[in-house]
Amino acid sequence: MLNLAAFEAQLTTSFLGRRLLYATTLTSTQDMARREAAEGAPEGTVVIAEEQTAGRGRLGRSWVSPPGDNLYLTLLLRPTLTGLRALTMVAPLACVQAAQDTTGVEARIKWPNDVLVNRRKLAGILIDTELMGEQPEYTLVGIGLNVNMDVESQPEVASIATSLRAEAGREVPREEALASLLNSFEALYQKAGKGQELREAWKARLETLGKRVNVRFGDIVEEGLAEDVDEEGNLLLRLPGGALRVVSAGEVTLRV
Ligand code: BTN
Repeated sequence: MLNLAAFEAQLTTSFLGRRLLYATTLTSTQDMARREAAEGAPEGTVVIAEEQTAGRGRLGRSWVSPPGDNLYLTLLLRPTLTGLRALTMVAPLACVQAAQDTTGVEARIKWPNDVLVNRRKLAGILIDTELMGEQPEYTLVGIGLNVNMDVESQPEVASIATSLRAEAGREVPREEALASLLNSFEALYQKAGKGQELREAWKARLETLGKRVNVRFGDIVEEGLAEDVDEEGNLLLRLPGGALRVVSAGEVTLRV
C-alpha cells in the first residue's frame, strides 16, 4: 500500500495532489476522475489506484495494471485553451523529470507522449478533455508509470515495457516517484500557463524527430520523415512526394 504520509512529506505543490483520492481497485482512474469532475471537484484533484481492472491506453488499447508495483493516476485539471495545448508536452516532460530526479535515468519521448527508455515504455499518458463549446470544461490526464514492476513477470508487455527499477537496478519508493511526478508536473503546467515555451525542452527529448516513421490513420498507413513539430505539438511529416502533412496527436499510432 502507498504510504500517504511519506508521499505528502515529499509533495511541494501548491494545488496538484493536495486533494488525493486513493483507491485499492478501480476499473480505471479516468472513470472515477470523470465522476469527480462532473460533480465539480477542484482543479488539482488526483485519483490514484493500486490496481485497475479495465485500465485504458490511447486509441482504445488496454493498459496492463497489476497491483502493487506501479503508479496509475489521473490528474483533474481545468485548463485554459493554452494550458490544454501544452499538456501534450507537460505530461511526458513531468515523467521524464521524475525518472531523472528519482533514479538519474534519462528517458526519451516518442511523439506525442510515450515515455521510453531504450525504446521500451516507461510511462504512458492518456489525455481526455470534456469541452463546453470551444473551451475545455475539464481535462483528465491519465498517467501510468512503471515503477517497480518486474517486467518479465508480465508476458503481455515483457518485450515492450520497462520500469524505473529495471533501469536503475534498485527499488524506487512509489511515494517518492509520485511526489516527484506531481511536483514536476505542477511546475511545468504553471510555466505553460504563463505562456512560457516548453516546446524546446520537449523537442530536445523527442526521439522521433529526424526519423522515418509510419503513421497509421485508421486503416491508412503513411510513411514519411518526422521533420519537426509545430507550436501546438503537431508532428510535421514530410511525405515521399515532398508535401508536408500536419499530424495531430489524437488520431495516429506511430512506428519508428
Ligand atoms: C498509453 O500509452 O496508451 C496511455 C496509457 C495510460 C494509462 C493510464 S494508467 C492511469 C490512467 N487510467 C487509465 O485507465 N489509463 C491511464
